[in-house]
Amino acid sequence: MNVVNFGSLNIDYTFRVNEIVRPGQTVDSLGVSCFPGGKGLNQSVAFARAGGRIFHAGLIGKDGLFLKELLEKDGADCSCVRVLEDTGTGKAFIQVDRNGQNSIVLSGGANRRNTEAYCREVLDRFSAGDWLLLQNEISCIGLLMELAGEKGMKVIFNPSPMDGAVLRCPLDRVSLFLLNENEGEGLTGRKEPDAILAEMAEKYPRAEVILTLGEKGALWSDGRETLSQEAFPVSPVDTTGAGDTFTGYVLACLSRGEGIRDSMRTAARAAAAAVTRKGAATAIPRIGEL
Ligand code: RIB
Repeated sequence: MNVVNFGSLNIDYTFRVNEIVRPGQTVDSLGVSCFPGGKGLNQSVAFARAGGRIFHAGLIGKDGLFLKELLEKDGADCSCVRVLEDTGTGKAFIQVDRNGQNSIVLSGGANRRNTEAYCREVLDRFSAGDWLLLQNEISCIGLLMELAGEKGMKVIFNPSPMDGAVLRCPLDRVSLFLLNENEGEGLTGRKEPDAILAEMAEKYPRAEVILTLGEKGALWSDGRETLSQEAFPVSPVDTTGAGDTFTGYVLACLSRGEGIRDSMRTAARAAAAAVTRKGAATAIPRIGEL
């Protein structure tokens, strides 16, 4: 069984600030750093650092070659990644406050240049039973769900960031959703975790759901049974990419046949370690460090 993550690759510009800037306000930052990022890249890095074998697909400009090199160094197969000559790599402008909380503005760049031909070319390399992981930072996610569903691939969807494009996707093709509370509310209109899970079971009865709750941990449900995993308490330095770390880790563990309970526990440990370090991909621990 192969796992392909068709996901974003971003260059993150991270500004450390005392407080996230308010509308109309101008603030001086405490420092700025450039990191590899993108929800797609972060999740592939986490999957690989958890010991899993993953293919990454996605588009970059020439300014993003170091992102591909980072993925390859971690052991991800990047033979499906393409470099565009006429477009820059996706960018993320991130503020991180003194509590480690973040606020992100994206510029999609190459991530938004997917075509039907490229999507078909990538998925032609995979077959029934393989897994396709998607987030919502690239174009053509609805098409990718359709194509993967037709082939009998398992579609795993992290609808982040949540916007109208998510609701236009054929979500009945999804076998596993990974959501935070905002994304859960966007899909169901419910705010409370139990209500989100109940509504998801009603709307998507064939899907499993993992709902992450930040410092309150995470829940898994298949509509009949629910399991919970507590978060490991840490003092956060930078929460950017914590959810991506959880996602990559939980999927890597599940892909090698570990049970959901053990997989969630390992993922929670990895996410806790990640928030004690700066940056997104750079903060993701290797499994031996946990
Ligand atoms: O989830 C964190 C990521 O969101 C960052 O790396 C940034 O690139 C944005 O995509």
